[in-house]
Amino acid sequence: MKHSDGTDTQRGDTGNTLLKQKPVRAVIVGAGHRSMLYASYSVSHADELHIAGVVEPDEVRRKVAMDAYKLPPEHGYESIEQLIAGPRIADVVFNGTMDHLHVATTLPLLEAGYDVLLEKPIGVSEKEVRELLETANRLGRKVMICHELRYAPFYAEIRKRLLQGAIGEVINMQFAENVSYHHIASAYVRGKWNSQKRGGSSMLMAKCCHDLDLMVWMKAGVQPKRVSSMGGRMFFREEQKPEGAGTRCLVDCPLVDSCAYSAKAMYLERNLWGTYVWHGIEHLSQNPTEEQKRESLRTDNPYGRCVWASDNDVVDHQAVNIEFADGCTGTFSLNGNAAKPGRRLHLIGTHGEIEGVMEEGSFTIRHFDLSAGHGYREERVNVDVTDNMHGGGDMRLVSDFLRVIRGEQPSISTTTLADSVNGHFVGFAADRSRVEQQWVQL
Ligand SMILES: NC(=O)c1ccc[n+]([C@@H]2O[C@H](COP(=O)([O-])OP(=O)(O)OC[C@H]3O[C@@H](n4cnc5c(N)ncnc54)[C@H](O)[C@@H]3O)[C@@H](O)[C@H]2O)c1
Repeated sequence: MKHSDGTDTQRGDTGNTLLKQKPVRAVIVGAGHRSMLYASYSVSHADELHIAGVVEPDEVRRKVAMDAYKLPPEHGYESIEQLIAGPRIADVVFNGTMDHLHVATTLPLLEAGYDVLLEKPIGVSEKEVRELLETANRLGRKVMICHELRYAPFYAEIRKRLLQGAIGEVINMQFAENVSYHHIASAYVRGKWNSQKRGGSSMLMAKCCHDLDLMVWMKAGVQPKRVSSMGGRMFFREEQKPEGAGTRCLVDCPLVDSCAYSAKAMYLERNLWGTYVWHGIEHLSQNPTEEQKRESLRTDNPYGRCVWASDNDVVDHQAVNIEFADGCTGTFSLNGNAAKPGRRLHLIGTHGEIEGVMEEGSFTIRHFDLSAGHGYREERVNVDVTDNMHGGGDMRLVSDFLRVIRGEQPSISTTTLADSVNGHFVGFAADRSRVEQQWVQL
């Protein structure tokens, strides 16, 4: 196949020899917040990544991406079908569509010969995740899932220490993700992940498939055997609404200046979660005015709703228990409505333990020491945490994906699709267990 730059690759072949010398050419599929973040790697690493096109049904977003990457008009597509029907312009795609579209949009891209960097969760059911895996295997295509936390120095260093035998065999793992009150209110109560019925994902899968992936990764090579889970929507429901509260913060609520979840405080005064909140008025401006924002919160913006008068159906907290084939147990706790957000981990091994909080940028390794008064000695390990989201994992993930595509040595964090599916199967099983109130065998 002739490329627009005059080089040649067979359809269905990313031409690794060629890619060793040239930047990998990528098409953005779904020019939303995540894909555009990954695409921005090309700005600082033009020798490694070139953005060649965009598939985006939303005209405004398509134009923003085309302007950002100076794309010719014929490289802006409204649909995957349009992209596939035209001449091949890239080696890979960055698929950042929403959860329920991941598998449906990736299957034709694989058939057309693209390797794919795919956002998590892989899909919204075990059945479609298996279909994707089978298709990728049949076609010999690469699909890497955006499990950025594997690349965060905090988790990558812990995994390295485990591989070096720092604490022996892991007997028990305690993981927790504390989701802040403003994050849960914005994304999982008012926002686009607030309904499994409409969006396809439970909160566990949308928010914590990362954490379940990390738990399975820490035990790589040992299969998770059975799962149980409980939890529900306890707080963000109509019955919890404070006396006298309205339905829309800026319209009819006397608590607008005192409520912790006030849309006025969160989105107008504190400017939180703007990428989600102002999506609906992007056609007015990329930088909407205060009045445009206020008006949208007053009228049809879903983020203007009272958190106790929304149409959310996902949980606000959930606990998951996992048993592995070697007898190791793991507990994961998804805690919505935390004052301080963060990810916490504690691993107990046959001869030591590791404990830490990702956002603190360090973890502690402890060993038995009978000579110390309290019976142990400890080492604090500092890791490089940046302001970049996901503990510094986002851009490292893109860099690793490009290494895999070029056929180079991947990092210890690299995850093949066959590997990524295990944490997802734990998550789907946990959701079934929660609903059916019984253990689920994997
Ligand atoms: N890795 C992470 O930690 C992380 C964090 C947040 C979100 N996510 C996931 O990333 C994905 C994207 O989230 P986002 O906030 O960027 O979403 P978004 O809504 O901002 O972007 C999705 C884009 O896809 C476009 N689109 C819709 N149908 C399409 C189609 N058929 N073909 C091509 N494009 C299409 C939409 O118009 C939209 O612009 C979601 O699955 C989300 O769960 C991952």
